[in-house]
Amino acid sequence: MDLELKGRTYVITGGSDGLGLATARRLAAEGADVAICGRDKTRLGAALSVLEGLPGGSIGVQADVREVADLDNLVDRTLDRFGHLDGVMNNAGQAAAGAFEGLDDAEILADHELKVMAMVRLTRAALPHLKERGGAVLNSLAASAKAPVAGSLPTSASRAAGLAWTKAMAQELAPAGVRVNAILIGYIDSDQWVRAAQRADQSYDAYTAALAQRLRIPMGRLGRSEEFADVASFLLSPRASYVTGASVNVDGGFSPVP
Ligand SMILES: NC(=O)c1ccc[n+]([C@@H]2O[C@H](COP(=O)([O-])OP(=O)(O)OC[C@H]3O[C@@H](n4cnc5c(N)ncnc54)[C@H](OP(=O)(O)O)[C@@H]3O)[C@@H](O)[C@H]2O)c1
Repeated sequence: MDLELKGRTYVITGGSDGLGLATARRLAAEGADVAICGRDKTRLGAALSVLEGLPGGSIGVQADVREVADLDNLVDRTLDRFGHLDGVMNNAGQAAAGAFEGLDDAEILADHELKVMAMVRLTRAALPHLKERGGAVLNSLAASAKAPVAGSLPTSASRAAGLAWTKAMAQELAPAGVRVNAILIGYIDSDQWVRAAQRADQSYDAYTAALAQRLRIPMGRLGRSEEFADVASFLLSPRASYVTGASVNVDGGFSPVP
């Protein structure tokens, strides 16, 4: 299926690694132009070299999504380079899960700022441009948005908030031609699991195989970043033109709820 991405432009936060980079790669392979961001300049440079030579163009913008000025600059730089904007993927984030009794206010508010307010602010900055072209917003969330479990705070609360924003914004923005969707991620290969394996002093394969077994993931393995990217690219593309306010589980059957 042709996703009709040629000549379209997408901003991807946290596009310098993991799921964001896999999605940028998929979009650029299909001819879309992508602007990726991250805080670490070296990581951003390495990601850009992965995107080099693909049919779509790419730029990297150093940005911390917790900074409003960085988000505004990300949108401005994208427009300067590519002239228009067709979609935004709010994806930058990192794991933050622990027990309620160990959490202080600062940690809870920091997670909300990173995972909720960054999405709100970037979507706000991009919206006038998305309205011009009938664009799309895609929020990378987590299965815990609908199925929080012990030890999953504050992430599960931030992800549930992200889901509420997704649904309400989708209904508000549909008349303006802007779609808003979310992916609820289970456990997918990425650097965060590489780091976890290192902390546990185990090989990546051994660590993730044991993790999949312990979590009872029905498909028996973690997902691949390309499997996430395929779903994300579809939801961002005009081929998903009648899909808005939806959340899609990409989790190998892990979530107990649809
Ligand atoms: N992989 C999973 O199994 C899984 C499960 C549930 C949810 N998720 C969510 O999916 C998203 C992507 O996860 P991933 O596994 O691809 O993570 P990853 O491999 O650790 O990549 C995270 C990306 O986000 C960027 N980032 C982090 N904090 C940032 C900030 N404040 N400002 C700008 N960029 C920032 C990182 O670059 P810098 O560090 O250089 O800034 C990097 O590019 C995250 O929101 C994560 O919480 C993932």
